[in-house]
Amino acid sequence: MLKMITVLSSVCPTAVPRRVLMPADLSARAHGAGMAAIAGFDVSSAAAAVEDLDRLVLLGIAAELHRTTRLGAPGTHSPDLVADDLGAAARHRWIVAHWLAALHGAGLARRDGEGRYHSLHRPSRAELAAARARMEGAGTALGYPRELADLMLRSLRLIPQLLRDEVGVQALLYPDGEPATAEAVYRDNVISRYLNLAAAEVVRDLAGHPPRPLRILELGAGIGATTADLLPALAGRPVESYVFTDLSPFFIDVARRRFDAPFLRYELLDVTEELPGPPGGLDLVVAATMAHNAPHVGRLLDQVAGLLAPGGRVLLIETVKEHAQSLTTMPPALSPRDGTGPPPRQDERAGTTRTYLTREEWRSRLAHAGLRVEVDLPPDGHPLTALSQRLFVATAPMESS
Ligand SMILES: C[S@@+](CC[C@H](N)C(=O)[O-])C[C@H]1O[C@@H](n2cnc3c(N)ncnc32)[C@H](O)[C@@H]1O
Repeated sequence: MLKMITVLSSVCPTAVPRRVLMPADLSARAHGAGMAAIAGFDVSSAAAAVEDLDRLVLLGIAAELHRTTRLGAPGTHSPDLVADDLGAAARHRWIVAHWLAALHGAGLARRDGEGRYHSLHRPSRAELAAARARMEGAGTALGYPRELADLMLRSLRLIPQLLRDEVGVQALLYPDGEPATAEAVYRDNVISRYLNLAAAEVVRDLAGHPPRPLRILELGAGIGATTADLLPALAGRPVESYVFTDLSPFFIDVARRRFDAPFLRYELLDVTEELPGPPGGLDLVVAATMAHNAPHVGRLLDQVAGLLAPGGRVLLIETVKEHAQSLTTMPPALSPRDGTGPPPRQDERAGTTRTYLTREEWRSRLAHAGLRVEVDLPPDGHPLTALSQRLFVATAPMESS
């Protein structure tokens, strides 16, 4: 029997008693729902599988740099000259330095005191073939659909074209305009299923006993991979509005065709600008794999906290460590159109090529925004932690200060 407490919501004058799950129970229930969603998958070898996928991409990059750049020759070489050899577009040149740092970190290249590289590992055909074979097994272990493996292999084959900006990541994610690959990345794999269904359980809890019809805002909702799992948790519940937003009109159009619920609204919204809405007007803000796009995560979370009603929640699905398996897709997707470096960051990532905050940094930013972290999943020690994607749910204080 789950423990429940009754609190009086201070949201509206005619406050309705509100029963909410204790944080520990909510977390346990969310974890249970996530695990139920991936029943049938043996995740005990997730860490080894992640290593295999990372290794394949690092070896693929090393092979390409060996084949097409001066790193295949003796001597020490600056990332700039390597980028020249690759003919990298101005906006993608930073990626070459980012990759070289990753290769160095993995012991596949050496770096001198002046940031020049040498002794790049040259993978043999047999080594690449073995890595590729392990990747197939790893993909199965992590419940990766075929499209994810194809995306990884295609992005490796297209390294030169990606860097020269002749092929865009969008084209890889939506081959022939079809969303199956993007769905594979954001929904149809073990960690996404776990996180999305755990998130849905949290939303179910919130929608179970709301003090008023819920007002929900989703930021950077993209193809709606998370939305698709949250909406069923709201079916038949009192919901005033669910505002599906994204920076891109493309995703808004897709979502309009995909979803159908009386409370859904669609809006363009750029989180680098001031978030609209009255203070305290929202019960839930969802940001699934998007908050890292904010130039200053703390500033975004402060704004989100300001929009939450007392007891309102923010639900983040976020990456807490960049894995090599995304090196050929994520960085090219992030290069600013008119920039010559990584996306400008003004928070703890400033001056680095980091895309994500660490788990501790996400928690600390939430706490700094005045939000109490109630859910931080998967639990410590669980095999799924190896995938470095997490669900954070944090709650605004009941009394506004
Ligand atoms: C990784 S995708 C998110 C996937 C999505 N949550 C889903 O479940 O399908 C990141 C999304 O953030 C959006 N985005 C990027 N920068 C943004 C910004 N400054 N403001 C709003 N949305 C942004 C992108 O258009 C993209 O749809």
